[in-house]
Amino acid sequence: MKVLLTGGLGYIGSHTAVELIENGFEIDVMDNLYNSSEDVVEKLKQITGKQVKFHKIDLLDMDSMDKMFSEGKYDAVIHFAGLKAVGESTQKPLMYYENNITGTINLLKCMEKYNVNNIIFSSSACVYSDKNVAPFTEDAILNPINPYGRTKYFIEEIIKDYCFANKNFKAVILRYFNPIGAHESGLIGENPNGIPNNLMPYITRVAFGKLKELSVFGNDYDTPDGTGVRDYIHVVDLARGHLAALNKINSFEGYKIYNLGTGHGYSVLDVVNTFNKVCGNKVKYKIVDRRPGDAACVFASPEKALNELGFKTTKELEEMCLSSYNFEKNNK
Ligand code: WQD
Repeated sequence: MKVLLTGGLGYIGSHTAVELIENGFEIDVMDNLYNSSEDVVEKLKQITGKQVKFHKIDLLDMDSMDKMFSEGKYDAVIHFAGLKAVGESTQKPLMYYENNITGTINLLKCMEKYNVNNIIFSSSACVYSDKNVAPFTEDAILNPINPYGRTKYFIEEIIKDYCFANKNFKAVILRYFNPIGAHESGLIGENPNGIPNNLMPYITRVAFGKLKELSVFGNDYDTPDGTGVRDYIHVVDLARGHLAALNKINSFEGYKIYNLGTGHGYSVLDVVNTFNKVCGNKVKYKIVDRRPGDAACVFASPEKALNELGFKTTKELEEMCLSSYNFEKNNK
């Protein structure tokens, strides 16, 4: 099976590329390098021994997309490409709607023209309402509260409508909780441009003195230690969730939706304390005000992915912290 990974040089895309290659899939990666680096192609070769074909293409460049599909002869697409910074999306909503939604429509048009009838879409737990009580099941109330989350919600709906109109088209929508960690080689990992928004890359940069100290956004939530609780999933487990979905996609009609999470919630201080325990006591922090828009407690019900995809996470928080630390150590 030949698979195109849009955004395939990004954090989750590159880890999924490794898992697919190591399980015998032929892959191409497409990326506009807005939030990734071309040297990941070489790192994928170092890890897997395979030279993946890289297309430096933007989803909004329809001519280049068409040429790639005319030559690619893909059996499936895993669609990672998209802008993903919550804060930036509130400042630049039109950029997010154009890039993420118009880009996806362009992708679906190419898939239709070249008869590619299988897609796995990278969605997010941020489509859920923060009024839901955790654990979140796939039929929990949806209510994204920022433009980024709304692009994920709208794309889910577009894919559902397209499946209804095209009976031979199959889709798996994967709602990620909080991916952290890195490949054991330390060659690929989470490497955001600028000051990280997300917790783990901020922690690892404090650990290596690249940032002064961590600000913990609030300790007055209704949680065991007052800090925010999230479902942190190792990015390699997350990548394996895509493999599980790909292996099942021909066994059903229409679309399926699955949470990818561990089913366990950890607080910010759980993460910081675990990181300091396994990586050496390097992360200083201070408690500051809550970050607007943050929910108190979000974690997945992982049952549906287990029952229908046979998918279950295997990696614990300690390994997530250690692998993140190891990547930052190697990441000059
Ligand atoms: C986790 C916890 C913060 C940074 C977001 C997106 C989601 C997905 C993952 C793309 C929260 C706390 C964080 C810091 C902190 N992104 N925190 N200090 O907000 O759960 O989810 O990233 O798909 O769509 O919404 O992740 O890592 O930003 O925050 O205290 O410097 O860490 O308050 O409790 P979040 P996060």
